[in-house]
Amino acid sequence: MRKIASIFSFLILLITFNALNAASVGINQDVAGLDTTPTIDRPFAPSMLRTKDNHKATLDSFENPEVCAGCHPKQYEGWRGSMHSNAWNDPIFLAEFKKGLKATDGKIFNLCAGCHSPIGVLTGTVSWDKKTNEFNISEKAARGVTCDVCHSISGAVPLKDTLTSEHGNASHIIDTATHIKYGPLKNSKSPYHETQYSELHTRANLCASCHNIIHPVNGTGIERTYDEWRVSPYAQNGIICQDCHMNSVEVAIQIAKTLKRPETFENHKARLSGKASTLGTERYSVVHSHEFVGGNVIISSLMAPNSLRKRKHANIAKKRLQNATELTIGLSQRKDGLFKLDVDVFNSGAGHNLPTSLTQVRHIWIEVTVTDKIGRILFETGKLDNHNDFNEEETIVFKTWAVDSKGRETHDPWSINHIVRDTTIPPKGHSKHDFVFNNKYNSNQLNVDVKLNYRSATQHFVDSLLGDDAPTIPTITMNHFSKSFTLQNSKWKEKIKTYESLESELINY
Ligand code: HEC
Ligand code: HEC
Ligand code: HEC
Ligand code: HEC
Ligand code: HEC
Repeated sequence: MRKIASIFSFLILLITFNALNAASVGINQDVAGLDTTPTIDRPFAPSMLRTKDNHKATLDSFENPEVCAGCHPKQYEGWRGSMHSNAWNDPIFLAEFKKGLKATDGKIFNLCAGCHSPIGVLTGTVSWDKKTNEFNISEKAARGVTCDVCHSISGAVPLKDTLTSEHGNASHIIDTATHIKYGPLKNSKSPYHETQYSELHTRANLCASCHNIIHPVNGTGIERTYDEWRVSPYAQNGIICQDCHMNSVEVAIQIAKTLKRPETFENHKARLSGKASTLGTERYSVVHSHEFVGGNVIISSLMAPNSLRKRKHANIAKKRLQNATELTIGLSQRKDGLFKLDVDVFNSGAGHNLPTSLTQVRHIWIEVTVTDKIGRILFETGKLDNHNDFNEEETIVFKTWAVDSKGRETHDPWSINHIVRDTTIPPKGHSKHDFVFNNKYNSNQLNVDVKLNYRSATQHFVDSLLGDDAPTIPTITMNHFSKSFTLQNSKWKEKIKTYESLESELINY
């Protein structure tokens, strides 16, 4: 008993010491205990990033994507303008990163940069100047997640060495000693570089290292895209991230519907197959698109290279969002005379939760408007206000709520202590809600309008980061149903309108 008591008081002392220590330099509580000392296993701590055989990396270990473009134009055209190409320059990321560096006295530097500029961390060519609050970065490192980042990955850090026995925090091994390109092709030959078949590239584990973020002190899952996928019907049917994100939206939709891999799709055979390089001799059944599009419309249109006039990636992101769900609506009149509107949101097309990743920041919500015959409002929720935001407390929102160690809600990854609420919708899962309203003017027509909306972040979050430079955050309508219900001979007769304007919205943003 006494032993326990003394261990207990030692712990209290330790905690107090840590707290005092943290308070004295003004470090955020949730990362005060973060160990950034490099070790053999974790040379870029707190990132999990490693090089093969602990070989040093220099800028010569990596080439710019334009070098690869010469023989791999298809892959390059896809990658250019993708969020992987924006991973460092993304202004929302940079602003949030600076905020985090200030809050943690630079402790999280390698953690964040390990995924957003792996080349910078490996070669030591990215740094942050505390005094000026500016970054210094080599041109190669600023290209983000490049061809050579992914195709130099020679293995995954063994799970026994990771933080939570799961991939994450850049837990991959990068070969910086050779110029071997690791990829999915067996026996491929190139006059320019050595090649090596890598099973890892044909598995979701490759993506997992960067699409799972774990808080390095308390182990909380901050971004859990891979974890969500791992327990989904897609994983069960052998469908991986690459199947949906390295193929066109049309193919991804068919994958989600049939739970079959694209290799079996007769209708897309001609478009999927081809050569892996202009110098290649072999034809492969699937040559992969490198667009890697998710839901990010705002950054992919802001950062689109000039020549990508049609804002290719942003438009594909809209298409993905607009094909990710099914919306079912029902209206009934209750015994007490009130009306009940049932809304069922079905995650029919995403291989992970909706939304996924930065779910403290990403928002999907239900917007409802019910009007009577002459347009008087009977019920509304989820409307945007003058500040381009909506009242979260009075809206059904799909997201997570994270809190820091003091229980205050936070959007900042480094200060997340735990998740208090999660309303994200799992793959092939449903979320049902009902809204009750009063037909107070006894109208014989009710116009019901329901939208499912998405945005990458709220306006006030982006305003707080970017001030006057903040862009207007667009709202993408993922799904929309509009129905008029009319009373005829004391019976409600249903008339259904379909939503036609999505196509034009898609092109005009
Ligand atoms: C394990 C890899 C990884 C680590 C570590 C990581 N990120 Fe990210 N980050 C990502 C990925 C992947 C996305 C994109 C997710 C998406 O768009 O769905 C992202 C997106 C973001 C975004 C959103 C950008 C936008 O335009 O909406 C911000 C902000 C961000 N990260 C900040 C940080 C900060 C700050 C840190 C360090 C505390 C950090 N990240 C650490 C992988 C990582
Ligand atoms: C985010 C990681 C990532 C980036 C960045 C990336 N690739 Fe890939 N690449 C992959 C994966 C994964 C595959 C294999 C997909 C599969 O087989 O399921 C692949 C496949 C390939 C192939 C084999 C043929 C094919 O398309 O299937 C070539 C060649 C290739 N990539 C070249 C490039 C070039 C050139 C760039 C830069 C312009 C690039 N990659 C950027 C992950 C990446
Ligand atoms: C001079 C032309 C040329 C250049 C430049 C070039 N490659 Fe290749 N690459 C090829 C050829 C040819 C193949 C073999 C294609 C085949 O098997 O059909 C190939 C194959 C690949 C593969 C597949 C490897 C496998 O085993 O799956 C990857 C990945 C790859 N290249 C990446 C890159 C990257 C990254 C760059 C830029 C740093 C690059 N290549 C530059 C010609 C080139
Ligand atoms: C080296 C780390 C790294 C690897 C490996 C990686 N990603 Fe990413 N990925 C990122 C980062 C960082 C971002 C987002 C940058 C941002 O939002 O600023 C991102 C963005 C994305 C996006 C766009 C998200 C959006 O909001 O539109 C998709 C889709 C994506 N990745 C899929 C994949 C897939 C599939 C794989 C595996 C084949 C993969 N990634 C491997 C780091 C990585
Ligand atoms: C069945 C197809 C499918 C599979 C499998 C799939 N995704 Fe997605 N993914 C989607 C769709 C559709 C969206 C757009 C809706 C959304 O944003 O969630 C998306 C969005 C994303 C986003 C952007 C999320 C956001 O809102 O910022 C990222 C990042 C991403 N996927 C990564 C992955 C990774 C990593 C895997 C594998 C672990 C994966 N996806 C597997 C269909 C898929």
